Amino acid sequence: MKKTFFIFSSLFFTAGIVFISCTGSETSKPVSEINNDSLIKRGEYLVATIGCGDCHSPKVMTAMGPVPDTARLLSGHRSDAKMPPVNEAALKEGWVLFYPENTAMVSPLGISYAANITSDSTGIGNWTFEQFTIAMTKGKYKGIESNRNLLPPMPWPNFANMSNNDLKAIYTFLKSTKPVKNVVPAAQINL
Ligand code: HEC
Repeated sequence: MKKTFFIFSSLFFTAGIVFISCTGSETSKPVSEINNDSLIKRGEYLVATIGCGDCHSPKVMTAMGPVPDTARLLSGHRSDAKMPPVNEAALKEGWVLFYPENTAMVSPLGISYAANITSDSTGIGNWTFEQFTIAMTKGKYKGIESNRNLLPPMPWPNFANMSNNDLKAIYTFLKSTKPVKNVVPAAQINL
C-alpha cells in the first residue's frame, strides 16, 4: 500500500515538473518554435489583460455603463458614430474630451480615433508583423517608419520594450479575430 502510494506520488511529482518546464519554456522559446494555437491563446490573454479593447472596441450603453459591443470587438471608432460638438471652451480651460465609448479623444494635439485592429482589410488584416512591431514599439501610423507619430491616448511607449514573443502573440491573435469592416475617420492633427 505504502509502495503504491510512493509510486503514485512520484508519478505526480514528475508529471508536475514536466508540466512546469513545458509551460515555462513556451514563453522563452524562439517564436518560430511556438505553435500557432499557443500564440493565439497568449495573445488573447495579453489583449484582454492589457485592455486594448478599452479604447479599440465600440461600446453599447447599459444600465451599468458602457460595455464592449461583442459584435464589433476591436474594430475601432465606429464610422457611423454621431460625434457631439466639441466644447471649445472646455478645451481652452485645459480639459481633454473623450467620446463616451472611449474610442475618440479631443486634445490640443488634435482628434484621435482608436484604430480598427481586427483581421479585416480595414483593420490590420494586410499588415506584416514588421509593421505591427513598428506601430507598437515606435508609435508610427500604419507601422511605417516615415509616417506620422501616433497620437495619444495610444499608450505605445508602454509597449516599446515588449518582448518579440509577446508582440508576435498579440499580432497572431489579432490576425485570428473576426474581421469587422470599419473605416475609422482620419485623425485631425493640430501640431
Ligand atoms: C488608452 C487607449 C488605447 C489603448 C489602451 C490601446 N490603444 Fe491602440 N490606439 C489608440 C488610438 C487612439 C489609436 C490611434 C492613434 C492615431 O491615429 O494617432 C491607436 C492606434 C493603434 C495602432 C496603430 C493603427 C494604425 O492604423 O496605425 C495599433 C496597431 C494599436 N493601436 C494596437 C493596440 C494594441 C494591440 C493595444 C493593446 C495591447 C492597444 N492598441 C491599446 C488607443 C489605444
